[in-house]
Amino acid sequence: MTTAHSTQISTPDEMIDRLIRAHVTGSGLARGFYMEAGVFPRDMERIFRRHWHCAGHASQIAKPGDFFVIDFEQEQVVLARDAAGEVHAFLNVCRHRGARVCNARSGNTRYFVCPYHAWTYRLDGSLKAARYMPPGFSAEAHGLRRIHVRVVEGLIFISFSERPLDFGIAADLLHASLGPYGWAGAKIAHRESYQLAANWKLAVENYLECYHCAPAHPEYSQTHALEQPGERIVELNTKMEERTRALGVEMLAGSNHWQNSAAGHEAASYMRYALYEGVATGSADGALLAPLMGDFTQSDGGVTSIHVGGSSFFACYVDHGVIYRFVPRSWQTTDMELIWLVRADAVEGRDYDLEKLTWLWKVTTDEDKQIIEYTAAGVRSHYFKPGPLAPMEYNELRFVRWYLDELQLSGDAGDGHQPALRQTLQKQAV
Ligand code: FES
Ligand SMILES: [Fe+2]
Repeated sequence: MTTAHSTQISTPDEMIDRLIRAHVTGSGLARGFYMEAGVFPRDMERIFRRHWHCAGHASQIAKPGDFFVIDFEQEQVVLARDAAGEVHAFLNVCRHRGARVCNARSGNTRYFVCPYHAWTYRLDGSLKAARYMPPGFSAEAHGLRRIHVRVVEGLIFISFSERPLDFGIAADLLHASLGPYGWAGAKIAHRESYQLAANWKLAVENYLECYHCAPAHPEYSQTHALEQPGERIVELNTKMEERTRALGVEMLAGSNHWQNSAAGHEAASYMRYALYEGVATGSADGALLAPLMGDFTQSDGGVTSIHVGGSSFFACYVDHGVIYRFVPRSWQTTDMELIWLVRADAVEGRDYDLEKLTWLWKVTTDEDKQIIEYTAAGVRSHYFKPGPLAPMEYNELRFVRWYLDELQLSGDAGDGHQPALRQTLQKQAV
């Protein structure tokens, strides 16, 4: 950070340690966490190459040979389904001289042939053929670099880590929370990408709190009780839980496994909240938008919200679902992808109107993009100092603590240790 006493040269590590020490408990993150170029590589190392991320939905690669690619900062990952139905993930970087091997965003193929010198890879990333290579050349040793992949309730998760965080707790939570909504058998109705001129943390922090919902999201606030302060929500949620029980739908009672990764586990949390009385789903008029999913025979007027790691979020309505993927592209640009899910047998035009289905989260995300970019512009000011967070920003507070913890955990997954600084931070946290 540019301060009066920072004339002596300090390393990025020293700068980050200074920023963490100066953090004021209960407030947002200081300017330096968004603006110092040295923070972004640490974010990538400790958050994005350490944690799991949702890459998409299994229905994107329903058939053997189907593939799609995703971007992550400057990385590109290919997700492909092999002839046996297994899903694989690997880096899109040729093991010969580094060319992008797969140059379509999605499709169906038997092999990936590098456009440069035609090294040919199988659907699991292994090398099948390399022209005119001398005797002794090992094809086995030159497969594309594999990325860990897990498919849970239809969601594809990837981890760049050599030794990924244990996904067991997150997987259990996903089974218990998404199971009743039948996401494993859902299909994609629509995908939309948003490019945000903002650091990834500003985008995620905005997603995590609903203090801004009433002033920034008039459409969302007409139907969703989350924009209300706590006491009112408790009352509405109690009624919603009664309706869920009356339907005989087995929902998770409440499950918060949000934790830093010191013990080697992926973080996951789950909450349910009510829609207003008489509102069945997240639509303009409260009426259902698509056929009911999973175990639901009618709407319970509730929404389930799930967070996994630092970049993957899921919202479940009884008739559709939305996946939110946050993808850092540079320290000041972030992609946000929304994926709408409906029941696999739902037919567009007959069972749902795509415009109506996507209206709420398109209009809400357009509004979010604007307020995130207003914030990114304000935070650039040398005079910006974060203020105290409001009680309604409890998830933002949790994120800030988690993020600061993660920045200090070094090593690959499972190697987490607690440096002195982290202990200092724990003492500060209340
Ligand atoms: S760079 Fe891919 S075959 Fe040469
Ligand atoms: Fe928002």
